[in-house]
Amino acid sequence: MSIGTPMLTRRDLLKLALTTAGAPAYVQGLVQRGVGQTADAFSSLGSLQQIAASRGIRFGSMVRKKTLIADPKYAGLVTQHCRVLVPGNELKWDALRPTPDQFDFSGSDWIQQFAKSHGMQFRGHTLVWEQALPKWFVPTINLDNAKQVLLSHISTVVGHYAGQMHSWDVVNEGIEIEDGRADGLKVTPWLIYLGPEYMDLAFHAAHQADPKAMLVYNENRLEPEGAAAERQRQAVLALLTRLVKRGVPIHGLGIQSHFVAETDAANSGLKRFLHAVEDLGLFILITELDVRDYRLPGDIAVRDGMVSKQYYNYLSFILKFKSVKTLMTWGLSDRYTWQPKDNPRNDGLTGRPLLFDANLRPKPAFEAVMRAFDEAPRR
Ligand code: XIL
Repeated sequence: MSIGTPMLTRRDLLKLALTTAGAPAYVQGLVQRGVGQTADAFSSLGSLQQIAASRGIRFGSMVRKKTLIADPKYAGLVTQHCRVLVPGNELKWDALRPTPDQFDFSGSDWIQQFAKSHGMQFRGHTLVWEQALPKWFVPTINLDNAKQVLLSHISTVVGHYAGQMHSWDVVNEGIEIEDGRADGLKVTPWLIYLGPEYMDLAFHAAHQADPKAMLVYNENRLEPEGAAAERQRQAVLALLTRLVKRGVPIHGLGIQSHFVAETDAANSGLKRFLHAVEDLGLFILITELDVRDYRLPGDIAVRDGMVSKQYYNYLSFILKFKSVKTLMTWGLSDRYTWQPKDNPRNDGLTGRPLLFDANLRPKPAFEAVMRAFDEAPRR
């Protein structure tokens, strides 16, 4: 990919405003105010969730309780732009399960209430994952109790929010090609103790606890070009096909969408895969979108330009699939991204993978997403 300029330059915006009679309010606003103003100055631009909703898409973000409490300005940005929230960590086992016999919903309930009081929906992440497990898990779980522990966790947690959920990530990241199994399943405690049927059990238990909830299989590393992602796609497709054929109550595939700016995330392999997933009758959800910039040049204009280009290319590609009705980013502002921790830059600069910068100002990526929503076909 060549080094690009920001998606919408000031001149582009002016041209758009001059040539497009009745241009969207956000374009007019950008022209009047220029890029790089404060978040407050942009409040008249409308919101991501509004423009998405006008195309039949729900836009939302991952949030953390601590951040929403500590940073009211950030919380304001969240309520302005989101229609659905997902807790980053508060619904993971290590947050919910202080002991084998206890459930602590204080973090997730707080976020659910925050969402509700601002007219937003709430989605659940995640019921089955081999990461973020409490310390007691490994010494406690064995062949005899694994099934009961899994089922009681799911029925209690899903039951707690029954009738109120947008959707649940029932199983997260169940494929790991490098583990060497023919079916590509990741070797986790659940697989070891319960066999591949652990997924069937999990989806059935979630469905029983909340028959109305949309149940999702959520996966990473599906988007890039290249052989590794292709193997990942094939293993996931085979898995979804098996689940659907067996009548397992699964309704959607979550595509995490954490990827680097310099991959072609609108490639033909992904396109084929998405058509095949739609043919299975499943919804497609974009669940954790952010564009990693840790390998890009340090120059901020160049970096932001490449990141915004990737947002625009990916969204204008993915939103052509009408089964994509939910799109979540993994945070809104670079102030709180998890990315630098995961992939620090060699030059020590902070990462800029999200739509708003660390001062909560909209970046070119914000404009790119607004534009992609604006151009998306209605569903
Ligand atoms: C991440 C959280 O954002 C971090 O705060 C935490 O330290 C690690 O997990 N894929 C997932 C998410 O499904 O649960 C991960 O969330 C990011 C990658």
